[in-house]
Amino acid sequence: MSANDRPMGAQNPTYDSVFLKACRREPVPYTPVWFMRQAGRSLPEYLKVREGVAMLESCMRPDLVTEITLQPVRRHKVDAAIYFSDIVVPLKAIGIDLDIKPGVGPVIARPIRTRADLAQLRGLEPADVWYVTEAIGMLTAELGGTPLIGFAGAPFTLASYLVEGGPSRNHEHTKAMMYGDPELWAELLDRLAEITSAFLTIQIEAGASAVQLFDSWVGALSPADYRRSVMPASAKVFDAVAPYGVPRIHFGVGTGELLGLMGEAGADVVGVDWRVPLDEAARRVGPGKALQGNLDPAVLFATREAVEAKTDEVLAAAAGLEGHVFNLGHGVMPTMDPDALTRLVEHVHARTSR
Ligand code: CP3
Repeated sequence: MSANDRPMGAQNPTYDSVFLKACRREPVPYTPVWFMRQAGRSLPEYLKVREGVAMLESCMRPDLVTEITLQPVRRHKVDAAIYFSDIVVPLKAIGIDLDIKPGVGPVIARPIRTRADLAQLRGLEPADVWYVTEAIGMLTAELGGTPLIGFAGAPFTLASYLVEGGPSRNHEHTKAMMYGDPELWAELLDRLAEITSAFLTIQIEAGASAVQLFDSWVGALSPADYRRSVMPASAKVFDAVAPYGVPRIHFGVGTGELLGLMGEAGADVVGVDWRVPLDEAARRVGPGKALQGNLDPAVLFATREAVEAKTDEVLAAAAGLEGHVFNLGHGVMPTMDPDALTRLVEHVHARTSR
């Protein structure tokens, strides 16, 4: 299929879903809800099917991916599914020696620090991730009118794992390259933009109704550094998938000072963490974009009354937005009570029904 075939045309059964309407800033009967990391360790049914299967292995098994992706949709009645995978899956698929260590995150055997190390990064072909295409085919058949969100890691966040060799608090090696060898940095980000563009394109062509670019750690940068050293690569990704006409969501954590630039990079929907109220976020992002967010995930550990009160604060701040998709300000945590998440979906739907 080519971009001109308009996979998101009216013949697509998810086109008129509440989630996609909100992303397009069209009127909706209620505010749609989904949760980042809605699939995963908070769900007993997830722990059960993952027993004895390593994280990366589970991402490469279409039957498991399909089951795990559907679990939170069945349980919470969220308005969108997010494809079960991880941001490092396309890197693994092109042969980078990496693993996802439980309780730690992605760990890279040979970090990328020099020009010679860049040779590890070849282009991504559809055959490298055949299991993604297969799983999305199975998923869209099962999901019917519920949209499936595809995703990828943004060039900066992927670079941070590749250069540091694993999770990092201060991103010291990453920043050392960005400031000290801007040419090498630009080359690295450009290659990652190519891989990410290919990965999102594969997911859209297989049937994903929207895509989210996770730039989880980009809040570590100043606006000037973001504009100079990161924005061109992220913009390249958004440009690459623009012809498909599916909503493009752009999310990061601690990005209050970057919201305007992240919108400018090309998103249709800007994800907001819990630090900036949505009405203020809308001023920073400017007109013509929907917002996604932004309940502090830690609120879910409070009493039911407190969860509802904090949720109502988010909804009040969202009242004047052009489009709003309710979400947490970051991912579901493994220790969260899944029933609290189900109640939260019900509450947002009930409060916003019009
Ligand atoms: O949202 C969803 O339901 C889809 C699943 C999803 C996973 N990772 C599954 C996963 C998504 C969207 C991701 C993206 C991801 N991975 C990001 C961006 C989102 C964010 O939270 O900011 C990042 C930074 C990563 C890297 C990563 N992978 C981390 C930090 C971890 C956690 C390590 C740990 O054990 O605490 C992972 C592993 C991972 N990815 C798990 C899941 C369900 C846990 C591993 C397991 O269940 O065994």
